[in-house]
Amino acid sequence: MNKRVEIALNDQIVKEASSSQFYLAMASWAEGNGLNGTAKFMYSHSDEERFHMLKLVKFVNERGGKAIIPAIDQPPVEFENLKNVFELLLAHEISVTESINELVDICLQEKDYTTHNFVQWYVSEQLEEEALARTMLDKLKLVGNDNSGLYMFDRDLESTIPQVNPMNETR
Ligand code: FEO
Repeated sequence: MNKRVEIALNDQIVKEASSSQFYLAMASWAEGNGLNGTAKFMYSHSDEERFHMLKLVKFVNERGGKAIIPAIDQPPVEFENLKNVFELLLAHEISVTESINELVDICLQEKDYTTHNFVQWYVSEQLEEEALARTMLDKLKLVGNDNSGLYMFDRDLESTIPQVNPMNETR
């Protein structure tokens, strides 16, 4: 496997693992604050990010590279409020999209078209994740500081989470 591509893929493994831990921290915070819908959403999102990481680990190893399982910095324990959580989620996803785009760029520079093809799945995934985070934030902006609105937002989230386990997806 091309060395530069291998390094970039390992960097992406760090980012996906960090995302998983970050959303797990959000889930735990939400659960501790009675926001069960948000907690469920974030637990599920954290699982999804772990799947993104695993998919990269397997790809690197299958292509003759060496996937490195990273140590991860501790994510925050406290968050200001629900809006803050979703703002952080969107900002985080935007930064992940940037790094996926860099990865695409490196694949093209190194003429690694197989990895380029593999990374396209992440490009589409990022589009969806950013759109979802923006929708959630738009809803929260409408709700403002209204407690009954926030309650409804959280309750709606509980019933609208897709019950798909990413670990069951075809690899
Ligand atoms: Fe796998 Fe949301 O980045």
